[in-house]
Order: sequence, then C-alpha cells, then structure tokens
Amino acid sequence: MTLHHLLERIVNDHETHAKWLNTLSYMENVGARKISACEHPTEVNLIQLKHAAEEHRHAHYLKKQILKITSSSCENYRKEYLLASLSTRQYLHSLDIKTCKYLQQNFSLTKEQLRYAAYLFVTYAIEVRADELYPVYQEVLTRCGSKVMVKSIILEEEGHLEEMIHQLDEFCEAWKIHAEHILKIENDLHQQWIKSISEEILKTEHA
Ligand SMILES: [Fe+2]
Ligand SMILES: [Fe+2]
Repeated sequence: MTLHHLLERIVNDHETHAKWLNTLSYMENVGARKISACEHPTEVNLIQLKHAAEEHRHAHYLKKQILKITSSSCENYRKEYLLASLSTRQYLHSLDIKTCKYLQQNFSLTKEQLRYAAYLFVTYAIEVRADELYPVYQEVLTRCGSKVMVKSIILEEEGHLEEMIHQLDEFCEAWKIHAEHILKIENDLHQQWIKSISEEILKTEHA
C-alpha cells in the first residue's frame, strides 16, 4: 500500500483517523522530549529551545485536532489509542540506538558530544521525514474535505530542517556522508512502521 493510499483509508474512517492523529501526537511528544533531554544545562541555545517548544506544540495541536472528527478523544498514549503501537514505540527508539552506535563507530566523542551529535543526526532524519509525510497527509486531508489541518506544522517543520542543516554544517564538514547512513537507517524503520500500520488497518477493515 502506498503512503497516499494508506492515508486515504485512515482519513476516511474517523476512529482510525483519531488514532492516527494521536500516534503522530505521540511521536511529536517523544521527539520534543528527546530534544529537551539532549539540551546542555547551560550551553543550550535559542534554536534548540525554539525547536523543543515547537515539537511540544505539534503534539498538543495534533491531539486537539482529534476533537474535530470525533467526540471519543484519545485520552493518552496507551496502546489502545495508538496505531501499530509496538512499531510506533520502536521507531524513534531504534533510530536513536542505531544512530548512537553509528556515531560511536565513526567519531571519537565524549558522552556529552555524543548526545549532541545524536540529537543533530536523529533530528535531521526526522525532519526530512516530516517534510515528506505532512505535505502528503495535508493533500489527502484537503482532497477528502477533512476539517483537520496540518499546514501550520508543515511550515515549522520546514524551518526545523533548515536549522538542523545549519547546525550540522557547524558540527562537521563531512556531515552529509554520515547523514546518508542515518537516513538509510531511518528509511528502513519508517518502512517497517508503515507496513505495521497498513497490516493493522487491513485487519480492522476485514474484522
Ligand atoms: Fe514536529
Ligand atoms: Fe520538527
């Protein structure tokens, strides 16, 4: 199932759509908390603060969108309120672990430097994905005439990607070579995640 096709199925079923929004909200929240966790207690700069604040806003905004389509809100991020909960939880966690492993093998970094480098590369990969996923989602929303809107998120994610590129430029001249590897890791995990969601939706449709 292509992403487009999958999103159409999701948007056309309110209950599934609510879970999808909650799943995205969960991922935004995990991302926000990861960014905050990577902050240096005293050296944290304006870009990092802005980034964390905006990811938290996305988590909150997506959660609020659920009320536009259904009254049965997804109260929290328990597995019954998420799509493919296991795969969803594993996605960012595995990306983190695999990225750290790669960075440790290719750089000699202190613990603090590793944390910052992981923040740069993981967040970069997530922003590349966000810049692909949200516009496709918005296109489907518009075409289906849904009240849900993610345009404000798209704008901010574009800004984030530029900011990550800027920070990576400062971190290491050859960052693009390394980023390629991280994007490959992310792509595999993303495929796995989409596959799990597709399977779950097909199962529900045939139930
Ligand atoms: Fe976001
Ligand atoms: Fe972002």
